[in-house]
Amino acid sequence: MTYAPAVSPVKNSSTNKTMHIARTRDDLQSVIQGWKADGLRVGFVPTMGALHDGHISLMTLAAQHADKVIASIFVNPTQFAPHEDFAQYPRTEADDLQKLEAAGVALVYLPTEDVIYEGGREPRVSPGKAAEGLESDFRPHFFGGVVNVVERLFSQVTPDIAMFGEKDFQQLQVIAEMVQAYDMPIEIIGGPIARDSEGLALSSRNAYLSAEELQIARQMNKILRDAARGEITPPQAASKLLAAGFDKIDYVEKRWNRILAAAWLGKTRLIDNMPTQ
Ligand code: PAF
Repeated sequence: MTYAPAVSPVKNSSTNKTMHIARTRDDLQSVIQGWKADGLRVGFVPTMGALHDGHISLMTLAAQHADKVIASIFVNPTQFAPHEDFAQYPRTEADDLQKLEAAGVALVYLPTEDVIYEGGREPRVSPGKAAEGLESDFRPHFFGGVVNVVERLFSQVTPDIAMFGEKDFQQLQVIAEMVQAYDMPIEIIGGPIARDSEGLALSSRNAYLSAEELQIARQMNKILRDAARGEITPPQAASKLLAAGFDKIDYVEKRWNRILAAAWLGKTRLIDNMPTQ
């Protein structure tokens, strides 16, 4: 399948909708300005690609809140530490575009690093209190990278609403806090976690797991559910994760009425969370 640049969109025969591809800010703006002039509400789902059903559920949710849905695919180098998996992070653009077209997305933004960080990588915003602890204790660079790429994406895409998955629950809080702190006129909406038939939270990083690791990974949601029900404490949940075969636990903690966890299986780091009951 071929995709046309933003100025000459292609029509999807099954959904009868056109999907624009924009690689530059000019391409992006030429389409969005037309929509805004028509009074249309723009929903935005930023992603790093390697799309799974969790991402697609965010596109569907965005379509319920907006007239036009924009998705971006950009593997953001500034949210990876030098020892992390930036180089290995799965890049599946052709497959991603097919999924987005089938989901009825109106425009896909595919910027290069130069387009996003035109003017340099200097931070323009800082993460607030929601970034303290949890992920930041183990990935201190992470939220600085996330807020700075999301702020740049927001300023280029200028959406009315933006969707983020609840799997990265702390990230969702950090972004909601940034939007308030910097008076950005964007409504942030969280999308429920998509899970496989055994409850494993869908993640692009699940692609790294061997068949044996996948079976172990599928225990995580069950153990967190027990902790969320108050049947075991967070430290007991951490011990159970180790007993199930996880190699290292970064944290299991209660915050925002959720039990949140991050744990390692071999070289793969998985996160998940469950609302307390
Ligand atoms: O959640 C992600 O995929 C990324 O952190 C995001 C929000 C697209 C920023 O790079």
